[in-house]
Amino acid sequence: MLFDTHTHLDAPQFDGDREETIARAVQQGVTRMVNVGFNRETIPSTMKLAETYDFIYAAVGWHPVDAITMKDGDLEWIAELCKHDKVVAIGEIGLDYHWDTSPKEVQHEVFRRQIGLARELKMPIIIHNREAHEDVIRILREEKASEVGGIMHSFSGSWETAKLCLDMGFHISFGGPITFKNAKQPKEVLVKVPDDRLLIETDSPYLTPHPFRGKRNESGYVRLVAEAAAELKGIDLEEIARITTRNALERFGIR
Ligand code: NI
Repeated sequence: MLFDTHTHLDAPQFDGDREETIARAVQQGVTRMVNVGFNRETIPSTMKLAETYDFIYAAVGWHPVDAITMKDGDLEWIAELCKHDKVVAIGEIGLDYHWDTSPKEVQHEVFRRQIGLARELKMPIIIHNREAHEDVIRILREEKASEVGGIMHSFSGSWETAKLCLDMGFHISFGGPITFKNAKQPKEVLVKVPDDRLLIETDSPYLTPHPFRGKRNESGYVRLVAEAAAELKGIDLEEIARITTRNALERFGIR
């Protein structure tokens, strides 16, 4: 019924109770999830989860924060993993101007190379964009990302930015922040996103929705995101679950 399109269940925060966390998500009606591996450590642990659970899929890519650690051969490694039938996207990739770990030029180069790879392999991309809206849009455009499209994950931009992404064929995914009382912008954007481009996610263990804000997030809480999205769209939970799950299945090319 529910599809968490972005989660990190391999994170060390779940080392003590990973199986139970996954079981709780299933109890909440989560029938599918995409776990995102984004660097040398999390790509193998993501693949392991995808190989263990039939309802967990994998996205693999190099995160902008880790761009500086990408070495010769890593792009080929990602390309090889994309042949695996549980790998459904390249990501998360993009730009992050909040953390100061990788220089901008390095982030740009790693981002561009992975868009190129996605076009070559015809894989959708999952975009991480933190405080870099303008450059993300410019690079997506220059690298012709519209050929493959993908997902703007945990979208936090304006409607103007969302519209540019929609025009390039992207889906827009929302997480915990749409449940926050004072998060006006993501709520306004969600209402305007066409139903057939809307996705939901947790980004767990981060971005925990209300009323668990401040605690660890987990995939089962995607139900809280779905409830908030349903209320904003003025439809019931079942309908939002049906719409967002259908969109995710189509976008990731599952069955
Ligand atoms: Ni993430």
